[in-house]
Amino acid sequence: MLLHLCTWQEIERYLERSKGVIVPIGSTEQHGPNGLIGTDAICPEVIARGVGEKIDTLVAPTLSIGMAQHHLGFPGSVSFRPSTLIAVVRDVVQSLARHGFEHCYFLNGHGGNIATLSAAFSEVYAENSFSGSKNRSRIRCKLSQWYMAPGVKRLSAELFGSSEGSHATPSEVSLTYFAYPDAVKSVTMSPKLAPTGAFYDADHYRSRFPDGRIGSDPSLASIDAGRQLYEAAIEDVARDYKEFLKVS
Ligand code: NI
Repeated sequence: MLLHLCTWQEIERYLERSKGVIVPIGSTEQHGPNGLIGTDAICPEVIARGVGEKIDTLVAPTLSIGMAQHHLGFPGSVSFRPSTLIAVVRDVVQSLARHGFEHCYFLNGHGGNIATLSAAFSEVYAENSFSGSKNRSRIRCKLSQWYMAPGVKRLSAELFGSSEGSHATPSEVSLTYFAYPDAVKSVTMSPKLAPTGAFYDADHYRSRFPDGRIGSDPSLASIDAGRQLYEAAIEDVARDYKEFLKVS
């Protein structure tokens, strides 16, 4: 059930049977020579939609821009500052809370969002905690990284081993190829395995990782691997979301 394809009456009825919603969140940032700029938003979006169909739950519109300042050295990357993303997530959660939603499950596709999302959730809770009014919401937020789900991690290790790396990974690129087979690109990687290490601002990142990848060889990506990862992710995320709905 996709929120943006529902009427308000349908959402009103949905709230009579569930107070849960999945919010896919990603980033718009370079993903190396063969990865799509939308990778981090596409992955959680397709998984969330799959989970939504499997267990008949509501999926909110994807928040497709995240905190990706370190990718701004590459054309096409678009980022919020941490403070902007905190404000965006807070407003989204409080809009949903106003309607009576109590469980917001953020399915995230971008490691760079994690610290900022945790801070945004704390802002939401702080508003309740500091408020003396009786109108406090019962909102609970959970952050879940699809690529950290146990079945997904196991499969990524099996399929790609040490070529997985940490940015522009063959796993995430595979998943986008499965979702958008017309967007598959064939590019030779040089060097085969990208360098690894820490990064700071955008210029530092680009000088350290010239083609955008970190530690990965995404030329191993395939539609078939993407299908397997998709199926594993749906299982893991559906289970985790159902557990979260039990939180009081
Ligand atoms: Ni990514």
